[in-house]
Amino acid sequence: MTDILIKIEDATKDFGSGANKVRALDGLHLAILRGEFVSITGPSGSGKSTLLNLLAGLDTPTSGDVIIEGSRLSTMSDDALTIFRRRHVGIVFQFFNLLPTLTAVENVALPLRADGVPRREIVERVVRALDLVSMGHRAGHRPGELSGGEMQRVAIARALVIDPVLLLADEPTGNLDSKMGQDVLELIKSTSEQTGLTVVLVTHDLRAAAYGDRMITLRDGRAVDEVSPHISSTVKNA
Ligand SMILES: Nc1ncnc2c1ncn2[C@@H]1O[C@H](COP(=O)(O)OP(=O)(O)OP(=O)(O)O)[C@@H](O)[C@H]1O
Ligand SMILES: [Mg+2]
Repeated sequence: MTDILIKIEDATKDFGSGANKVRALDGLHLAILRGEFVSITGPSGSGKSTLLNLLAGLDTPTSGDVIIEGSRLSTMSDDALTIFRRRHVGIVFQFFNLLPTLTAVENVALPLRADGVPRREIVERVVRALDLVSMGHRAGHRPGELSGGEMQRVAIARALVIDPVLLLADEPTGNLDSKMGQDVLELIKSTSEQTGLTVVLVTHDLRAAAYGDRMITLRDGRAVDEVSPHISSTVKNA
């Protein structure tokens, strides 16, 4: 049996109304398997970030549904959704979104503190997460004292410290030079391979998208193309 982690069923997302109405997603179907690394690509305005926000439970579709581990988001309370997100979904953004006044350690500790994890456990897990992204030696640095690639690695540590089942990344290399971007993608890829983490990577960069097992192209809110460069037929036909 294929193990589907997250499914989008006939999702449409409209913003605005009347003459200003924009259909950001238009009847989208998508199933993502546990452990899969899916890249979403497509031109600006094609609905990539809107899709990621639906997968994160940060936004809801106008029609259709999102199903995570068998639970329909439309039937989950806001509290249940918040807890699900906090415990199981890590998110990485183009502009890092680190708090400038906090050190790397403090930034990475934030999601655990929000979840009420005991202090001693927080310290252990933060150290492990920073080591995983090779940033242990910059633990006491604030974002302003780090390079772009280092800031993104800290942001990845913050996303991974909760041991998420799903990592969502929206243009995580958009602000990095190509070498740093490659390092960040290698890190995400190897983490996914080693831990079975499911990854959805949004990027307009085809070289970055090629890190995925499967690449989906959006245009005007629809999936217009799907390729699976290096994957078995089981996943391809799922
Ligand atoms: N909050 C919003 N209010 C109104 N329109 C929105 C909103 N968010 C997105 N849109 C519109 O929905 C469409 C899809 O936007 P989205 O941000 O998903 O595109 P994208 O593929 O991520 O683009 P980019 O590559 O530029 O980040 C666009 O036409 C955009 O203008
Ligand atoms: Mg976007």
